[in-house]
Amino acid sequence: MKKILIFGGSGHIGRHLIGRLTKQNHLVTVVTRNLHKNGSILKTQGNPGYLNIVEANIFDENEIDNLIKNTDICINLVGILFEKKKNSFNNIHTNFPNIISQKCNKYNIEQFIHVSALGIERAIDSKYAMSKLGGEKKIISNFSKFTILRPSIIYSVDDNFTTNLMSLLSLLPIFPLYYNGNTKFSPLHVSDFCEIILKVIKNNILAEVIECVGPEELSFKEILKKLLKSINKNTILIPFPLKIAKIIALLFEMFPKPLITKDQLRLLKYDNILSKENKSNIDFGIKAKLKFEEEILKYSYMWKNGGQYSR
Ligand SMILES: NC(=O)c1ccc[n+]([C@@H]2O[C@H](COP(=O)([O-])OP(=O)(O)OC[C@H]3O[C@@H](n4cnc5c(N)ncnc54)[C@H](OP(=O)(O)O)[C@@H]3O)[C@@H](O)[C@H]2O)c1
Repeated sequence: MKKILIFGGSGHIGRHLIGRLTKQNHLVTVVTRNLHKNGSILKTQGNPGYLNIVEANIFDENEIDNLIKNTDICINLVGILFEKKKNSFNNIHTNFPNIISQKCNKYNIEQFIHVSALGIERAIDSKYAMSKLGGEKKIISNFSKFTILRPSIIYSVDDNFTTNLMSLLSLLPIFPLYYNGNTKFSPLHVSDFCEIILKVIKNNILAEVIECVGPEELSFKEILKKLLKSINKNTILIPFPLKIAKIIALLFEMFPKPLITKDQLRLLKYDNILSKENKSNIDFGIKAKLKFEEEILKYSYMWKNGGQYSR
């Protein structure tokens, strides 16, 4: 039984991880910025008595001090996909991991698990990727008992990836393909990713950067085709000139939650699969099992005409 502190636990990965951790009798504390918004969801994720929720500003150093000094293991799941005012990539992906890892070192906790992202070393023109890489470097120099996980795209019934894509594919007659849809991903089901985190804790895997991938490599076009098949739609996939894509991204950036940004467009250029330069979950004997096509079929009916029982 460990005392585990999670930052960003109300997000997609956190919501799935909390229950698994409390089931193993770990005492979990989740830090959120907004208890009113996230409290009721978080409360139902873990076994009663094993889950504590704290509302805090993640940049309030006194508060972080108090939380980390009573912790065995800290997990950082805080991340953003687009910047808004003070919510810059640099602040969230570099400065915050820097502060946390310094505190982990100060109180000499047992382990700091940080979730970064796959493919960031290659994506040198992406601010998102470079800020994630900057965060990793700070952690490695601040605290020796780190474990950095670099997942490819993570999906499940309550993600922001397959669900958003299925919503768009079910509405639009045509769908743009950037870079001809050739960019490769290795989709990882959130259950498989949580298993990796559980093994990292159980086996006390320290001082490692681990690339985390699913059982298959699929191009973006293949992913879209599998989604279209599962929702029984014939949306036409059209390769899109980059110049027009950039203008569209620029327009989307004006919305509070942009569907795509210029930075994401740059990131999409790079394959999101094993680099072969780092160790992966497979090297640690933690192979992902769940296949993309089989898993999305379990929830894609929500986007089908007539729903689950339609013929
Ligand atoms: N999902 C994927 O496909 C994927 C792939 C590769 C890497 N990752 C990385 O894995 C981590 C977790 O991913 P996820 O999908 O679970 O993310 P998510 O659903 O977007 O949740 C991220 C959490 O971060 C917290 N957060 C966001 N902005 C914040 C801010 N300005 N200040 C403080 N907290 C903030 C939020 O917690 P509160 O609202 O409760 O404060 C939110 O619940 C992220 O670092 C992400 O980059 C994810």
